[in-house]
Amino acid sequence: MPEKYTPGYSINAMNFMAKRSLDTHAAFFKPYLRPGMNLLDCGCGPGSIALGLAKAIAPGTLTGIDREASQIRIAAESAFTHAVSNANFLEGNIYALPFEDNSFDAIFSHALFEHLQKPVEALAELQRVLKPGGILGLRSPDWGGCLIAPFPPELDRAITYYKWLHEQNSGNPYVGRELRALLRETGFTNIKASASYECYQPLSAIAEYLAERIQASAKEDQAVEKGWTDERLTAMSKGLREWSRHPDGFYAQAWCEVVGWKG
Ligand SMILES: C[S@@+](CC[C@H](N)C(=O)[O-])C[C@H]1O[C@@H](n2cnc3c(N)ncnc32)[C@H](O)[C@@H]1O
Repeated sequence: MPEKYTPGYSINAMNFMAKRSLDTHAAFFKPYLRPGMNLLDCGCGPGSIALGLAKAIAPGTLTGIDREASQIRIAAESAFTHAVSNANFLEGNIYALPFEDNSFDAIFSHALFEHLQKPVEALAELQRVLKPGGILGLRSPDWGGCLIAPFPPELDRAITYYKWLHEQNSGNPYVGRELRALLRETGFTNIKASASYECYQPLSAIAEYLAERIQASAKEDQAVEKGWTDERLTAMSKGLREWSRHPDGFYAQAWCEVVGWKG
């Protein structure tokens, strides 16, 4: 099965990502950032975390890479709007980065590894472009750790279906817990792992993101082949939206974090 990026690039999906920041989503990596560093953000998306990283390492340079041209354009525009002048954004694939060996003092990647079919190959490529002694920081969710209340059957079906879609696209919704092992397998040293929760507020943010993505999948081959009709998927999306209006609704997403060094 070819690797496919499950969230897609709808305005809704992009706005969902663009609310992230260095403080809210990359706090674990902040203690390792130093002014003057040459830093790569791999899979930077719309660049909201990247801009925070750039400010933290100024006068060093932040390079953001993403496979998708639209994300690169949005990240570059955002850097211009926010007057962040030490950030460059380039189109590129993590499996074949357009950089010389030993180019970066540090590399960061947020919410990318859960979408990769070959994480060890991707890590080997990050290791190649990282300088000896350089640090790598990764953060990915682990969908096995979601805390959700209330949890009606329609919501259960929707979450189970989204995880299935993720796996059909050769992603791994449980990669968070494996990050430490992946770094060790690739040869990183002094690895430190941690975890944190993100509580979605308002609930409509996660509900709308999942509802739209589930509904859109009705036209995709894998859903059609498995008999996931438009009607069944619409019922899941409706269930998600209804749940998001529940006064006691709660959704906490587990994120796993890891840092390691190139020896
Ligand atoms: C979930 S988004 C995360 C964006 C940003 N890091 C954040 O957390 O807000 C993942 C990004 O990785 C990019 N991506 C997916 N596969 C990639 C690959 N093989 N190489 C580079 N970027 C990739 C996608 O285009 C997408 O913009």
